[in-house]
Amino acid sequence: KLVQLSAALAEKGNYRHFMEKEIHEQPEVIARTLTHYVDPFRLVVRPFESIDFKQYDRILIVACGTAGYAGQVAGYWIEQIAGMPVRNEVASEFRYRDPAVSKRDLALFISQSGETADTLAAMRFCKDRGLTTAVVVNAAHSTMAREADIALPTLAGPEIGVASTKAFTCQLAALAMIAINAGRARGHIDANREKELVTGLLEAPRDVSKALEMEDEAKRIAGELTQSRSVLYLGRGVYYPLAQEGALKLKEISYLHAEAYAAGELKHGPIALIEENLPVVVVAPHDHLWDKTMSTMQEVAARGARVILVTDSAGLAACDVKREDVILLPDCAPIASPIVAAVAIQLLAYHAAVYKGTDVDQPRNLAKSVTVE
Ligand code: G6P
Repeated sequence: KLVQLSAALAEKGNYRHFMEKEIHEQPEVIARTLTHYVDPFRLVVRPFESIDFKQYDRILIVACGTAGYAGQVAGYWIEQIAGMPVRNEVASEFRYRDPAVSKRDLALFISQSGETADTLAAMRFCKDRGLTTAVVVNAAHSTMAREADIALPTLAGPEIGVASTKAFTCQLAALAMIAINAGRARGHIDANREKELVTGLLEAPRDVSKALEMEDEAKRIAGELTQSRSVLYLGRGVYYPLAQEGALKLKEISYLHAEAYAAGELKHGPIALIEENLPVVVVAPHDHLWDKTMSTMQEVAARGARVILVTDSAGLAACDVKREDVILLPDCAPIASPIVAAVAIQLLAYHAAVYKGTDVDQPRNLAKSVTVE
């Protein structure tokens, strides 16, 4: 055990925490994961021989925690790129109701560890009902990797920090591959569109490296976040799950209270929380929903909130709302953008925790892998 421990500590290299190291490993491990799925010469995703996407009416995505948020991003992608209905489920809810499933559902699970009790139970339930089960999994020799009909690996390497970082972005990379594969198999995208998507994704590792360059800025803003009791995260579309992941990361390791809302939901309640100087992190790279998000920002800024905008150069140019701070992401393809935005929310949470002096890699009350009820 001691030998194992010192080997693991040695692996931390010059980083203070595993989480910091794992955040910085992302360009490399995302590239590794993408390479597993892509034919780099033809710029296509290698077909999954084992899945005939035409055979299914719907994809049921089941996971817990951070993996669940990756699944929600995938939901947007699969509906848009493959025109396939998706249902996202929290494993602990799914397994204890009497979910209506059909053999024409492809049951897709997502798990870093491959051992999370609720996700595993949900997988076994689906197997018992005769569904095809696939898992996006990081631990290659885990129970889920063994028991699923189809294991789709993420190649993030061992993740030691309890708060998931590189496993999340690698899950996104693998899930994008599933969306593209399904889109092609179902004739929802043509070869040119596939090439465009694959090219965009192959640039993600470089984009993530560039995003890591704004670490000093994220660190400064994180220091300010720690002065508040509560932080609100907002996003729309694919950035809504990113906002949720941002709030989760902050809670997990800095113990600051954080909540995330779909930006359009703000007016249905949470706007009552807005008060002078409340930090509101708006995850909003420029996309077709930009104008909508901007009007939400206007609402919160008008009430004195401190808007911290996570956006790209097009978003910054189009923004005429008073914002306190900006985390400027590198410009990238839309498909790579949630992966790149993840870096910003990870760095904010990481540095907030460092400021607060919490145990970043082993936060209180949390386990890396929840294998019991
Ligand atoms: C725990 C971890 C989270 C993780 C979740 C799901 O709660 O602290 O970081 O997202 O389990 O884990 P899995 O291994 O199934 O991805």
